[in-house]
Amino acid sequence: MTGISGRVEIDSEADILQARQQARDVAEDLGLGTTDVTRIVTAVSELARNIHLYAGEGVMDWEQIEENGRTGLAFVFEDEGPGIADSAAALEGEFSTSDGMGRGLSGTQTLMDDMEIDTEQGEGTTITIKKWQ
Ligand SMILES: Nc1ncnc2c1ncn2[C@@H]1O[C@H](COP(=O)(O)OP(=O)(O)OP(=O)(O)O)[C@@H](O)[C@H]1O
Ligand SMILES: [Mg+2]
Repeated sequence: MTGISGRVEIDSEADILQARQQARDVAEDLGLGTTDVTRIVTAVSELARNIHLYAGEGVMDWEQIEENGRTGLAFVFEDEGPGIADSAAALEGEFSTSDGMGRGLSGTQTLMDDMEIDTEQGEGTTITIKKWQ
């Protein structure tokens, strides 16, 4: 760990933009290429929007990560909302409780190097995404 980290609280629509902006800034600061910066901003946008839509509020924590000499970024989205009823189906792009496409989570997984979903009914959801340089 490098100790470089931050947090954006997601309570309103405007906070989604705040999360996007902060993700863009840290990804650019790390020297990631424009394609990866765009992937990260898109993924962050989707997960922040899901918190806003389905949990109402939550947080995005990010930190610079190091492993085997590689540097990357991890973003953790945490809420205490209703939980994702069927996260396996959601990752297949086959589950939606809204009028959305149900493609947000599966698309996010495709964009990132790593994604983990930890969710429990009535308890909340934690989603961690990583992108390596
Ligand atoms: N943080 C969350 N808390 C509770 N449920 C969630 C959360 N994120 C996603 N979900 C549930 O998982 C479903 C699938 O999410 P996903 O982002 O893949 O699709 P969507 O939001 O329905 O549509 P799209 O993202 O394509 O507009 C959602 O419809 C919702 O029921
Ligand atoms: Mg979505």
